[in-house]
Amino acid sequence: MTTARVLNIRASGSVEKAAALLKQGGLVAFPTETVYGLGADALNTKAVCRIFEAKKRPAFDPLIVHVGFPETAFGLWKKTPKVARELIRAFWPGPLTLVLLKSPVIPDVVTSGLPTVAVRMPGHPAALRLLRAFGGPLAAPSANLFGYTSATSAQAVLEDLGDAVDLVLDGGHTRIGVESTVLKVEAQKGILLRPGGTPAEAIEKFLPVLKSPESAVLPEAPGMMKSHYAPRTPLCLMEKPLPDFMRELKTLRQAYRRRGLQWPRIGILTLRGIPESEATAVQVLSRRGDLTEAASRLFQAIRKLDKMDLDLIIAEPVSESGIGAAVMDRLRKAQGGKPALDELRGRLK
Ligand code: TXA
Ligand code: MG
Repeated sequence: MTTARVLNIRASGSVEKAAALLKQGGLVAFPTETVYGLGADALNTKAVCRIFEAKKRPAFDPLIVHVGFPETAFGLWKKTPKVARELIRAFWPGPLTLVLLKSPVIPDVVTSGLPTVAVRMPGHPAALRLLRAFGGPLAAPSANLFGYTSATSAQAVLEDLGDAVDLVLDGGHTRIGVESTVLKVEAQKGILLRPGGTPAEAIEKFLPVLKSPESAVLPEAPGMMKSHYAPRTPLCLMEKPLPDFMRELKTLRQAYRRRGLQWPRIGILTLRGIPESEATAVQVLSRRGDLTEAASRLFQAIRKLDKMDLDLIIAEPVSESGIGAAVMDRLRKAQGGKPALDELRGRLK
Protein backbone atom coordinates (compact mmCIF):
# COMPACT_ATOMS: atom_id res chain seq x y z
CA MET A 1 0.00 0.00 0.00
CA THR A 2 1.13 3.46 -0.78
CA THR A 3 1.16 6.20 1.81
CA ALA A 4 1.44 9.00 -0.73
CA ARG A 5 -1.11 11.69 -0.17
CA VAL A 6 -3.71 12.35 -2.84
CA LEU A 7 -5.71 15.56 -2.90
CA ASN A 8 -8.44 16.54 -5.30
CA ILE A 9 -7.09 19.50 -7.21
CA ARG A 10 -10.46 21.25 -6.89
CA ALA A 11 -10.59 20.86 -3.09
CA SER A 12 -10.03 24.14 -1.33
CA GLY A 13 -6.42 24.67 -0.25
CA SER A 14 -5.01 21.71 -2.21
CA VAL A 15 -3.05 23.82 -4.68
CA GLU A 16 -1.64 26.00 -1.88
CA LYS A 17 -0.57 22.89 0.06
CA ALA A 18 1.15 21.56 -3.05
CA ALA A 19 2.93 24.87 -3.63
CA ALA A 20 4.16 24.92 -0.02
CA LEU A 21 5.53 21.36 -0.37
CA LEU A 22 7.31 22.31 -3.59
CA LYS A 23 8.92 25.30 -1.85
CA GLN A 24 10.34 22.90 0.74
CA GLY A 25 11.93 20.79 -2.00
CA GLY A 26 9.10 18.25 -2.20
CA LEU A 27 7.86 16.21 -5.17
CA VAL A 28 4.30 16.84 -6.34
CA ALA A 29 2.58 15.02 -9.19
CA PHE A 30 0.03 17.19 -10.95
CA PRO A 31 -2.21 16.96 -14.01
CA THR A 32 -1.46 18.88 -17.19
CA GLU A 33 -3.52 18.86 -20.38
CA THR A 34 -1.18 16.18 -21.81
CA VAL A 35 -0.14 13.70 -19.09
CA TYR A 36 0.58 13.93 -15.36
CA GLY A 37 3.88 15.61 -14.48
CA LEU A 38 6.18 14.90 -11.55
CA GLY A 39 7.09 18.38 -10.39
CA ALA A 40 9.91 19.85 -8.32
CA ASP A 41 11.43 23.33 -7.92
CA ALA A 42 13.50 23.68 -11.11
CA LEU A 43 16.02 25.93 -9.36
CA ASN A 44 16.61 23.53 -6.43
CA THR A 45 19.24 20.96 -7.43
CA LYS A 46 18.44 18.58 -4.57
CA ALA A 47 14.72 18.58 -5.34
CA VAL A 48 15.42 17.95 -9.03
CA CYS A 49 17.69 15.01 -8.14
CA ARG A 50 14.76 13.46 -6.29
CA ILE A 51 12.78 13.42 -9.57
CA PHE A 52 15.46 11.27 -11.21
CA GLU A 53 15.47 8.91 -8.22
CA ALA A 54 11.68 8.59 -8.06
CA LYS A 55 11.37 7.82 -11.78
CA LYS A 56 14.53 5.70 -11.89
CA ARG A 57 15.43 8.00 -14.77
CA PRO A 58 19.02 8.07 -16.02
CA ALA A 59 20.75 11.40 -15.36
CA PHE A 60 21.44 11.88 -19.07
CA ASP A 61 17.76 12.44 -19.92
CA PRO A 62 16.93 16.16 -19.45
CA LEU A 63 13.70 17.48 -17.94
CA ILE A 64 11.06 19.89 -19.22
CA VAL A 65 10.64 23.09 -17.18
CA HIS A 66 7.07 24.36 -16.73
CA VAL A 67 6.16 28.01 -16.32
CA GLY A 68 3.01 29.90 -15.33
CA PHE A 69 3.73 32.90 -17.57
CA PRO A 70 5.66 33.36 -20.86
CA GLU A 71 7.80 36.03 -19.15
CA THR A 72 9.17 33.39 -16.77
CA ALA A 73 10.38 31.41 -19.81
CA PHE A 74 12.14 34.47 -21.24
CA GLY A 75 14.20 34.58 -18.02
CA LEU A 76 15.24 30.91 -18.36
CA TRP A 77 16.62 31.20 -21.89
CA LYS A 78 19.72 33.11 -22.87
CA LYS A 79 17.75 34.81 -25.61
CA THR A 80 14.24 34.42 -26.99
CA PRO A 81 14.28 34.82 -30.78
CA LYS A 82 11.38 36.50 -32.55
CA VAL A 83 10.07 33.26 -34.01
CA ALA A 84 9.99 31.66 -30.54
CA ARG A 85 7.90 34.61 -29.31
CA GLU A 86 5.53 34.08 -32.23
CA LEU A 87 5.19 30.38 -31.42
CA ILE A 88 4.53 31.23 -27.79
CA ARG A 89 1.85 33.73 -28.78
CA ALA A 90 0.20 31.12 -31.00
CA PHE A 91 0.50 27.98 -28.87
CA TRP A 92 0.91 28.83 -25.17
CA PRO A 93 -0.56 27.86 -22.89
CA GLY A 94 -0.59 24.46 -24.58
CA PRO A 95 1.25 21.27 -25.54
CA LEU A 96 4.34 22.81 -27.18
CA THR A 97 7.76 22.63 -25.52
CA LEU A 98 10.48 24.90 -26.89
CA VAL A 99 14.17 24.08 -26.59
CA LEU A 100 16.57 27.06 -26.64
CA LEU A 101 19.97 27.97 -25.19
CA LYS A 102 19.67 28.16 -21.42
CA SER A 103 20.41 30.94 -18.99
CA PRO A 104 22.86 30.13 -16.16
CA VAL A 105 20.01 30.22 -13.58
CA ILE A 106 18.97 26.70 -14.68
CA PRO A 107 20.96 24.07 -12.78
CA ASP A 108 22.86 21.60 -14.98
CA VAL A 109 21.06 18.65 -13.42
CA VAL A 110 17.80 19.83 -15.08
CA THR A 111 19.29 19.79 -18.57
CA SER A 112 21.67 16.85 -18.05
CA GLY A 113 24.50 19.24 -18.75
CA LEU A 114 23.14 20.35 -22.13
CA PRO A 115 23.52 24.00 -23.15
CA THR A 116 19.78 24.17 -23.89
CA VAL A 117 16.64 24.01 -21.76
CA ALA A 118 13.16 22.78 -22.71
CA VAL A 119 10.30 24.97 -21.43
CA ARG A 120 6.53 24.92 -21.75
CA MET A 121 3.47 26.64 -20.29
CA PRO A 122 0.81 23.97 -19.77
CA GLY A 123 -2.77 24.55 -20.91
CA HIS A 124 -4.44 23.18 -17.79
CA PRO A 125 -6.09 25.72 -15.49
CA ALA A 126 -5.16 23.90 -12.28
CA ALA A 127 -1.57 23.34 -13.41
CA LEU A 128 -1.32 27.06 -14.08
CA ARG A 129 -2.80 27.83 -10.65
CA LEU A 130 -0.17 25.58 -9.10
CA LEU A 131 2.68 27.20 -11.05
CA ARG A 132 1.47 30.67 -10.11
CA ALA A 133 0.95 29.77 -6.44
CA PHE A 134 4.47 28.31 -6.39
CA GLY A 135 5.75 31.45 -8.09
CA GLY A 136 8.60 29.97 -10.14
CA PRO A 137 9.54 27.33 -12.72
CA LEU A 138 8.84 23.64 -12.04
CA ALA A 139 10.87 20.84 -13.59
CA ALA A 140 8.38 18.10 -14.44
CA PRO A 141 8.86 15.00 -16.55
CA SER A 142 5.93 12.67 -17.13
CA ALA A 143 4.96 11.05 -13.82
CA ASN A 144 5.70 7.43 -14.73
CA LEU A 145 8.59 5.06 -14.16
CA PHE A 146 11.33 5.68 -16.70
CA GLY A 147 10.70 3.89 -20.00
CA TYR A 148 7.17 2.85 -19.02
CA THR A 149 3.81 4.03 -20.35
CA SER A 150 3.02 7.63 -19.28
CA ALA A 151 0.40 8.34 -16.62
CA THR A 152 -2.87 9.99 -17.65
CA SER A 153 -4.63 9.58 -14.28
CA ALA A 154 -3.73 9.99 -10.61
CA GLN A 155 -4.25 6.25 -10.19
CA ALA A 156 -1.60 5.50 -12.81
CA VAL A 157 0.83 7.89 -11.07
CA LEU A 158 0.35 6.04 -7.79
CA GLU A 159 0.83 2.64 -9.42
CA ASP A 160 4.20 3.76 -10.76
CA LEU A 161 5.59 6.11 -8.17
CA GLY A 162 3.71 5.33 -4.94
CA ASP A 163 5.66 6.49 -1.93
CA ALA A 164 8.39 8.19 -3.95
CA VAL A 165 6.11 11.20 -4.43
CA ASP A 166 5.05 13.47 -1.55
CA LEU A 167 1.68 14.47 -2.97
CA VAL A 168 -0.50 13.68 -5.97
CA LEU A 169 -2.97 16.31 -7.11
CA ASP A 170 -5.88 14.43 -8.65
CA GLY A 171 -7.47 16.28 -11.55
CA GLY A 172 -9.10 13.28 -13.24
CA HIS A 173 -8.13 11.94 -16.62
CA THR A 174 -5.93 14.24 -18.72
CA ARG A 175 -7.53 15.77 -21.81
CA ILE A 176 -4.95 15.28 -24.59
CA GLY A 177 -3.37 12.06 -23.36
CA VAL A 178 -0.01 12.21 -25.18
CA GLU A 179 2.88 14.48 -24.23
CA SER A 180 3.73 17.88 -25.63
CA THR A 181 5.49 18.39 -28.94
CA VAL A 182 9.19 19.12 -28.30
CA LEU A 183 10.70 21.57 -30.78
CA LYS A 184 14.26 22.82 -30.83
CA VAL A 185 14.28 26.34 -32.23
CA GLU A 186 17.24 27.31 -34.39
CA ALA A 187 17.86 30.44 -36.44
CA GLN A 188 16.15 29.34 -39.64
CA LYS A 189 14.30 26.19 -38.65
CA GLY A 190 12.68 24.10 -35.97
CA ILE A 191 13.79 20.55 -35.23
CA LEU A 192 11.04 18.21 -34.11
CA LEU A 193 12.55 16.24 -31.22
CA ARG A 194 9.24 14.60 -30.28
CA PRO A 195 5.86 14.74 -32.03
CA GLY A 196 3.08 15.50 -29.54
CA GLY A 197 -0.06 17.41 -28.72
CA THR A 198 0.69 20.30 -31.10
CA PRO A 199 0.71 19.00 -34.69
CA ALA A 200 3.85 19.76 -36.70
CA GLU A 201 1.57 20.97 -39.50
CA ALA A 202 0.45 23.88 -37.29
CA ILE A 203 4.03 24.81 -36.35
CA GLU A 204 5.06 24.84 -40.00
CA LYS A 205 3.01 28.00 -40.52
CA PHE A 206 5.72 29.80 -38.52
CA LEU A 207 8.98 28.14 -39.54
CA PRO A 208 10.23 25.13 -41.51
CA VAL A 209 10.26 22.00 -39.35
CA LEU A 210 12.85 19.26 -39.75
CA LYS A 211 10.91 16.12 -38.92
CA SER A 212 13.29 13.21 -38.76
CA PRO A 213 15.79 14.04 -36.06
CA GLU A 214 16.67 10.35 -35.69
CA SER A 215 18.38 10.45 -39.04
CA ALA A 216 20.17 13.68 -38.16
CA VAL A 217 23.20 13.82 -35.90
CA LEU A 218 21.70 15.12 -32.70
CA PRO A 219 23.71 14.07 -29.70
CA GLU A 220 21.94 16.82 -27.78
CA ALA A 221 18.61 14.99 -27.79
CA PRO A 222 19.16 11.99 -25.55
CA GLY A 223 15.46 11.68 -24.72
CA MET A 224 14.78 10.22 -28.12
CA MET A 225 15.74 6.76 -27.02
CA LYS A 226 14.36 3.99 -29.21
CA SER A 227 12.54 2.09 -26.47
CA HIS A 228 10.17 4.17 -24.41
CA TYR A 229 6.52 4.22 -23.32
CA ALA A 230 6.73 0.40 -23.26
CA PRO A 231 4.35 -1.88 -21.37
CA ARG A 232 5.78 -4.97 -19.60
CA THR A 233 3.86 -7.22 -22.01
CA PRO A 234 5.66 -7.29 -25.38
CA LEU A 235 3.91 -4.94 -27.84
CA CYS A 236 3.98 -5.53 -31.60
CA LEU A 237 2.58 -3.55 -34.49
CA MET A 238 0.30 -5.03 -37.14
CA GLU A 239 2.25 -5.22 -40.36
CA LYS A 240 -0.87 -5.41 -42.55
CA PRO A 241 -4.17 -3.54 -42.81
CA LEU A 242 -6.64 -4.70 -40.17
CA PRO A 243 -8.91 -7.01 -42.28
CA ASP A 244 -5.92 -8.83 -43.84
CA PHE A 245 -4.23 -9.02 -40.50
CA MET A 246 -7.26 -10.56 -38.81
CA ARG A 247 -7.55 -13.12 -41.60
CA GLU A 248 -3.93 -14.16 -41.18
CA LEU A 249 -4.34 -14.30 -37.44
CA LYS A 250 -7.18 -16.76 -37.88
CA THR A 251 -5.06 -18.95 -40.19
CA LEU A 252 -2.21 -18.85 -37.73
CA ARG A 253 -4.47 -19.89 -34.89
CA GLN A 254 -5.49 -22.95 -36.89
CA ALA A 255 -1.82 -23.77 -37.47
CA TYR A 256 -1.20 -23.55 -33.72
CA ARG A 257 -4.14 -25.88 -33.11
CA ARG A 258 -2.94 -28.41 -35.69
CA ARG A 259 0.38 -28.59 -33.92
CA GLY A 260 -1.19 -28.82 -30.51
CA LEU A 261 0.38 -25.54 -29.49
CA GLN A 262 -1.32 -23.20 -27.07
CA TRP A 263 -2.60 -20.03 -28.74
CA PRO A 264 -1.13 -17.08 -26.87
CA ARG A 265 -3.22 -14.65 -24.83
CA ILE A 266 -3.39 -11.67 -27.15
CA GLY A 267 -4.61 -8.14 -26.49
CA ILE A 268 -5.49 -6.03 -29.49
CA LEU A 269 -5.25 -2.25 -29.45
CA THR A 270 -7.33 -0.98 -32.33
CA LEU A 271 -8.60 2.36 -33.56
CA ARG A 272 -12.24 1.59 -34.44
CA GLY A 273 -12.69 -2.00 -33.24
CA ILE A 274 -12.47 -5.44 -34.80
CA PRO A 275 -15.23 -7.58 -36.29
CA GLU A 276 -14.44 -10.91 -34.62
CA SER A 277 -11.53 -11.84 -32.58
CA GLU A 278 -8.75 -14.34 -32.06
CA ALA A 279 -7.84 -12.23 -29.06
CA THR A 280 -8.37 -12.46 -25.32
CA ALA A 281 -8.88 -8.71 -24.92
CA VAL A 282 -9.58 -5.74 -27.17
CA GLN A 283 -9.14 -2.03 -26.47
CA VAL A 284 -10.81 0.35 -28.90
CA LEU A 285 -9.27 3.82 -29.05
CA SER A 286 -12.07 5.63 -30.88
CA ARG A 287 -15.18 4.03 -32.42
CA ARG A 288 -15.57 7.04 -34.72
CA GLY A 289 -11.93 6.80 -35.77
CA ASP A 290 -11.10 10.19 -34.29
CA LEU A 291 -7.35 10.55 -33.71
CA THR A 292 -7.73 13.16 -30.98
CA GLU A 293 -9.94 10.78 -29.01
CA ALA A 294 -7.53 7.93 -29.78
CA ALA A 295 -4.58 9.91 -28.39
CA SER A 296 -6.49 10.72 -25.22
CA ARG A 297 -7.15 7.03 -24.57
CA LEU A 298 -3.82 5.55 -25.75
CA PHE A 299 -1.79 5.22 -22.54
CA GLN A 300 -4.80 4.24 -20.43
CA ALA A 301 -5.66 1.49 -22.91
CA ILE A 302 -2.07 0.19 -22.94
CA ARG A 303 -1.97 0.17 -19.15
CA LYS A 304 -5.28 -1.75 -19.04
CA LEU A 305 -4.01 -4.44 -21.42
CA ASP A 306 -0.74 -4.61 -19.51
CA LYS A 307 -2.64 -5.66 -16.37
CA MET A 308 -4.38 -8.62 -18.06
CA ASP A 309 -1.56 -11.13 -17.96
CA LEU A 310 -1.37 -11.31 -21.74
CA ASP A 311 1.45 -12.83 -23.78
CA LEU A 312 1.34 -10.17 -26.46
CA ILE A 313 -0.23 -6.80 -27.21
CA ILE A 314 -0.83 -6.15 -30.90
CA ALA A 315 -1.43 -2.56 -31.95
CA GLU A 316 -3.05 -1.30 -35.14
CA PRO A 317 -1.13 1.59 -36.74
CA VAL A 318 -3.00 4.88 -37.21
CA SER A 319 -2.67 7.61 -39.83
CA GLU A 320 0.26 9.91 -39.10
CA SER A 321 -1.54 13.15 -39.75
CA GLY A 322 -1.98 15.73 -36.98
CA ILE A 323 -1.83 14.17 -33.54
CA GLY A 324 -1.71 10.72 -35.23
CA ALA A 325 2.05 11.32 -35.61
CA ALA A 326 2.38 11.43 -31.82
CA VAL A 327 0.31 8.24 -31.42
CA MET A 328 2.46 6.37 -33.95
CA ASP A 329 5.68 7.67 -32.37
CA ARG A 330 4.58 6.27 -28.99
CA LEU A 331 3.49 2.93 -30.50
CA ARG A 332 6.76 2.50 -32.39
CA LYS A 333 8.83 3.25 -29.32
CA ALA A 334 6.67 0.97 -27.16
CA GLN A 335 7.13 -2.04 -29.46
CA GLY A 336 9.29 -4.86 -28.24
CA GLY A 337 10.76 -6.21 -31.45
CA LYS A 338 9.31 -7.97 -34.47
CA PRO A 339 6.04 -7.14 -36.24
CA ALA A 340 3.09 -9.16 -34.89
CA LEU A 341 2.67 -11.93 -37.51
CA ASP A 342 6.43 -12.48 -37.61
CA GLU A 343 6.45 -12.82 -33.86
CA LEU A 344 3.56 -15.32 -33.85
CA ARG A 345 5.06 -17.35 -36.71
CA GLY A 346 8.35 -17.41 -34.83
CA ARG A 347 6.60 -19.05 -31.88
CA LEU A 348 5.33 -21.82 -34.17
CA LYS A 349 8.87 -22.99 -34.87
O1 TXA B 1 3.58 16.90 -22.07
C1 TXA B 1 4.71 16.87 -21.60
O2 TXA B 1 5.70 17.34 -22.18
C2 TXA B 1 4.89 16.23 -20.21
C3 TXA B 1 4.10 17.05 -19.20
C4 TXA B 1 4.30 16.58 -17.79
O3 TXA B 1 4.44 18.39 -19.34
N1 TXA B 1 6.27 16.12 -19.86
C5 TXA B 1 7.10 15.22 -20.44
O4 TXA B 1 8.40 15.22 -19.94
O5 TXA B 1 6.78 14.48 -21.31
P1 TXA B 1 9.43 14.02 -20.18
O6 TXA B 1 10.57 14.32 -19.28
O7 TXA B 1 8.78 12.72 -19.97
O8 TXA B 1 9.90 14.20 -21.65
C6 TXA B 1 10.73 15.27 -21.98
C7 TXA B 1 11.41 15.04 -23.29
C8 TXA B 1 12.47 13.98 -23.16
O9 TXA B 1 12.43 13.17 -24.31
C9 TXA B 1 13.74 14.79 -23.09
O10 TXA B 1 14.88 14.10 -23.55
C10 TXA B 1 13.42 15.99 -23.95
O11 TXA B 1 12.06 16.24 -23.69
N2 TXA B 1 14.21 17.14 -23.57
C11 TXA B 1 14.18 17.84 -22.42
N3 TXA B 1 15.08 18.81 -22.41
C12 TXA B 1 15.73 18.76 -23.59
C13 TXA B 1 16.80 19.49 -24.18
N4 TXA B 1 17.38 20.48 -23.56
N5 TXA B 1 17.20 19.14 -25.41
C14 TXA B 1 16.60 18.11 -26.06
N6 TXA B 1 15.59 17.37 -25.55
C15 TXA B 1 15.17 17.68 -24.33
MG1 MG C 1 8.23 10.78 -20.35
